[in-house]
Amino acid sequence: MLPRCAISVCHVFVLVLCLSSAEDFDWTKNDHGSFYYGTFPAGFSWGAGSSAYQTEGAWDKDGKGLSIWDVFSHKKGKIQQNDTGDSSCEGYYKIKDDVGLMKELKLNHYRFSISWPRLIPTGIKSDHINEKGIQYYNELIDHLLENKITPIVTLYHWDLPQFLQERYGGWQNISMVNHFNEFANLCFERFGNRIKYWMTFNNPWSVAVEGYETGEHAPGLRLRGTGAYKVAHHIIKAHAKVWHTYDTQWRAKQKGMVGISLSGDWGEPVDITNQKDIEAAERYVQFYLGWFATPIFHGDYPQVMKDFIGRKSVQQGLGTSRLPSFSPQEKSYIKGTCDFLGVGHFTTRYITQKNHPSARSSSSYFTDRDLAELVDPRWPDPGSEWLYSVPWGFRRLLNFVKSQYGNPMIYVTENGVSEKMLCTELCDDWRIQYFKDYTNEMLKAIKDGVNVKGYTAWSLLDKFEWDEGYSERFGLYYVDFRNKNKPRYPKASVQFYKRIISSNGFPNQREVENWRRKAVETCSTSNQLLAAEEQRSTAANILRLIHDPLTSHMEMVTEIVVPTVCTLSILLSAVFLMFLLRRRN
Ligand code: NOJ
Repeated sequence: MLPRCAISVCHVFVLVLCLSSAEDFDWTKNDHGSFYYGTFPAGFSWGAGSSAYQTEGAWDKDGKGLSIWDVFSHKKGKIQQNDTGDSSCEGYYKIKDDVGLMKELKLNHYRFSISWPRLIPTGIKSDHINEKGIQYYNELIDHLLENKITPIVTLYHWDLPQFLQERYGGWQNISMVNHFNEFANLCFERFGNRIKYWMTFNNPWSVAVEGYETGEHAPGLRLRGTGAYKVAHHIIKAHAKVWHTYDTQWRAKQKGMVGISLSGDWGEPVDITNQKDIEAAERYVQFYLGWFATPIFHGDYPQVMKDFIGRKSVQQGLGTSRLPSFSPQEKSYIKGTCDFLGVGHFTTRYITQKNHPSARSSSSYFTDRDLAELVDPRWPDPGSEWLYSVPWGFRRLLNFVKSQYGNPMIYVTENGVSEKMLCTELCDDWRIQYFKDYTNEMLKAIKDGVNVKGYTAWSLLDKFEWDEGYSERFGLYYVDFRNKNKPRYPKASVQFYKRIISSNGFPNQREVENWRRKAVETCSTSNQLLAAEEQRSTAANILRLIHDPLTSHMEMVTEIVVPTVCTLSILLSAVFLMFLLRRRN
């Protein structure tokens, strides 16, 4: 997904383009066929996901070291509302509760990540191993297996040990390859008897671009035009090394698989008859998913990246390309290091050709691509600014993976939608719609011959959404972050997703409509429960504030005024409704 600053620039552009070309733009292209009733292949795996920093909390407990996200989120002005992941969902203390929720959903698998600094506080294995951290993941894994839920583990979901950032500059430094390999090897040694699905990295695009190019994510560096390419280069090497470690030291005994989870939006040409737009859209996907997938499946970067970045580097008077290159030995070492591909996908863009000047001062990953992104104003966007619901793009992306990389085994590792709302709402009809349509497009892709083996709804719980803090909720379960106990409440989408899982697909229209109706009916009970709990905690907060005059004005506004206004509006609407009904009678 796009970083926020890029999005705002792009939005202005989108609007301008939409206005100027509205007449000759064929919006009806959205009509991408009807719903497909049918079932998934037997044994298809249904799951939900999370990541360590986003859900665990316990940031400084039981010997855990600092991660770059602990430090980044503690700096003022980096995260919405200055939120942090310090306690988040307190998942560290709630293994049993959360596995209970997974059972309720009848999940086949659960995807989570291991926090590197929780196991190795400095990141350097020879310094110290934190046995309490090992114990936590042992308990989580055992509890999942006891409940017949397959764990799918990501080794790196963005939380680099801070010490490695300070001492070496993090992923800018090639030494990360060995440190990461040692960490991975420790995980294989301690957990590999029970874990059969490993993923080295989650969405390295984001690490590189948002961490080292735009600086919106930890470690917050803005090394435009160079940082992201260098970081990605080291990440690809680290991935390959870990795959080889598993292959030579553990595979025969543990019989598991090692993959990587790559994210990618789909890029659709604005004008499907215009060769330049077709090429620009292809470039968009190659610079996104292809940047990592092409070396891993074919041994080198996509030709189009080498051409574009190379040409611009020459124009900028540089002796070599800003895109680093692999030696022949490295190419053959990296090629084929993927037992299965994790695909994270949320949204789509329309793409058109747009030349960017190649001045050195303005060079960046974004301008290197020579394209512009557009959105259809009619696409639903219930939550995050960047996230438009465009189900048909999912099928296209999956088919792209099939044709480009030799039809690899795919696990969808992330797919879902957020909501942005001040008042609490558990009746998430729009999420039901999103899951229904996206999983249906995935089913069509499977019918097209794409080798998708599993699907992971993102996410099990509402959680810390990186630079957006807690303002964007992706969960199937709502988490009341204002309550110290972080209680979870099912949204309507829990009921709906559960039905897809138990039917392994979509039996027929009548039944699927019924699921939806029932899901929306039952959520009103949960809504009432939550509203009552919120009133109770608001009252408790008022009492606390009376006793603590130093509590800030801001806290007062977010913790008291907003919920009180919400509750009052609900009450007033109810009174108004009753009044209307009476008058009608
Ligand atoms: C991808 C990231 O991997 C995940 O952590 C995040 O919550 C989702 N995108 C939604 O933004």
